[in-house]
Amino acid sequence: MSDTPMFTPFTLRGMTVRNRLVMSPMCQYSAIDGTVNDWHVVHLGSRAMGGTGLVITEMTDVSPEGRISNGCAGMYKPEHVDAWKRVVDFVHSHSDAKIAIQLAHAGRKASCEVAWEGGGPLPDNQAWEIIAPSPIPFSADSQTPRQMSEDDMARLIDAFEQGTRWANEAEFDMIEIHGGHGYLISSFISPLSNTRNDDYGGPLENRMRFPLAVFRAIRDNWPDEKPVSMRISAYDWVEGGTEVDDAVEIGRMLKEAGIDIVDVSSGNVTDDVRPRVDGLFQTPFSERIRNEAGIPTMTVGNVGGPQQINEVIAEGRADLCCMAKGQLYDPYFAHHAARALDIEDYAWPKQYRAAGFFKPVD
Ligand SMILES: Cc1cc2nc3c(=O)[nH]c(=O)nc-3n(C[C@H](O)[C@H](O)[C@H](O)COP(=O)(O)O)c2cc1C
Repeated sequence: MSDTPMFTPFTLRGMTVRNRLVMSPMCQYSAIDGTVNDWHVVHLGSRAMGGTGLVITEMTDVSPEGRISNGCAGMYKPEHVDAWKRVVDFVHSHSDAKIAIQLAHAGRKASCEVAWEGGGPLPDNQAWEIIAPSPIPFSADSQTPRQMSEDDMARLIDAFEQGTRWANEAEFDMIEIHGGHGYLISSFISPLSNTRNDDYGGPLENRMRFPLAVFRAIRDNWPDEKPVSMRISAYDWVEGGTEVDDAVEIGRMLKEAGIDIVDVSSGNVTDDVRPRVDGLFQTPFSERIRNEAGIPTMTVGNVGGPQQINEVIAEGRADLCCMAKGQLYDPYFAHHAARALDIEDYAWPKQYRAAGFFKPVD
């Protein structure tokens, strides 16, 4: 047990993480018909071996048409369970890390090329029909989505329920609902992508109706001792979109509904260019939601160093710090941070214990 903020354990329901570093979800575009494989075992397993407290999978879609691309991971058919369980078993048997699955549906941002092919919409002969709260395309060259009916919503809620039961069979420790970045749930929340005039559009309470229904469906099918998080875009960076004041209100609604922690990101709800921002540009949003709505938060965006994580935690700006690109750069970031902070008893995997005696030179 450490008195260094980054290495202080943190508990949500029955899950305790050993430190405050989270591997942020990152699409790998390497699954086949949604089935994850050796790549995902190594990708997620190595960050767990690297000492990260909580590893979150990439966005994992609950229906095939909810995938961004043909390479996206899924939890929409029984075959997906064993493939994911291999990843989870590796993490649990070779590290102290906990592992969460990010359940998602890409909504109007589905049916695209994988990132390294450019990420644009698939050509007509390969595209599939996409759905969204309103028939507004994401970008000038995107397909126009079909406006979802209440039957579509009911079908997707069933898919989230089934995905949740399978996630439990695969023995994940936590579910994160992807409610950010303009994907389906996020597109219900933002007034820029939801212009419905029924019970699911208009004021924030209505725009939150479908996201909260998804959460309740998940909660009802997920063991009590396991926590649920939601990632949100706390700020759209576009006039007329979600503002941080709205995000605080969303935080209150999520708390009241029973969400355990909010993962606070921003943007990507429209294809407008987001201003270039340096430093911990999203941490003020996480701080406001945490302290004004009274719900634990994770911050993300440019988290890059152990002292910085210590400060964020000690100053009560977030409870956990997610790192995406930094975890690609250094899967062993947590071990390196422990050394930088003089944490002596921070354990490398037993097979790698000798690494603790390595003395880097310039
Ligand atoms: C390759 C890559 C894939 C990503 N995929 C996802 C994803 O599946 N789900 C998600 O919520 N965010 C995704 N993100 C966003 C990251 O989780 C994170 O919020 C963002 O990169 C900012 O954190 P950073 O500054 O530490 O990279 C992705 C980012 C990268 C670089």
